Amino acid sequence: MKPRVAVLCSGRGSNMQALVRAARAAADYPAEIVLVLSDKADAPALGIAREMGLRAEAVPAKPFGKDRAAHERALDARLIEERIDIVCLAGYMRLLTPYLVGRWAGRMLNIHPSLLPKFPGLDTHARALAASEARHGCTVHLVTEGMDEGPILGQAEVPVLPGDTEETLSARVLEQEHRLYPAMLAQLAQKISLPGPASPS
Ligand code: GAR
Repeated sequence: MKPRVAVLCSGRGSNMQALVRAARAAADYPAEIVLVLSDKADAPALGIAREMGLRAEAVPAKPFGKDRAAHERALDARLIEERIDIVCLAGYMRLLTPYLVGRWAGRMLNIHPSLLPKFPGLDTHARALAASEARHGCTVHLVTEGMDEGPILGQAEVPVLPGDTEETLSARVLEQEHRLYPAMLAQLAQKISLPGPASPS
């Protein structure tokens, strides 16, 4: 039995799409993507996922106001109902509380558009350009409580070229994200024990 994977997105969904494509492209890919969740009802990722034949749902954060853990309990409930084993954050732009991070410890991945520990947080491409970095890239890491801080599973590097803008550099990095993330998910999927977490008691 392959681990069942949920992808959490807030926006465009290109990494989610890359994960789904990779998982479907090879019969021996060691995980299956079965669920896409978003904190935003209008996230383009949801429409893309549905077009790809996936179950895709919004669990909007708004109704929960400032109670972030309550929103996470609602997300977690869906993950448990769908018997999810691994969660991939793919452009999921909310800070997680210790609640969800703890529930999915060792089973939750994130992709970040920089060579961590350089440039955690936002605007990574602009910051890499401003710092005159010669190399930039992306990182897949396990999610822990600190933002963009968990153990690094893998990185992909690109050169920063003369005349690069935020757009050209982010496009070069994104191409690498789409290769790195499926490879790192496969690696984790091969190691993970099944089944994933049960409902909190
Ligand atoms: C990606 O570049 C991803 O690395 C980044 O958001 C983009 C989402 O694009 N994530 C973060 O910045 C998380 N800190 P996508 O929706 O097309 O995958």
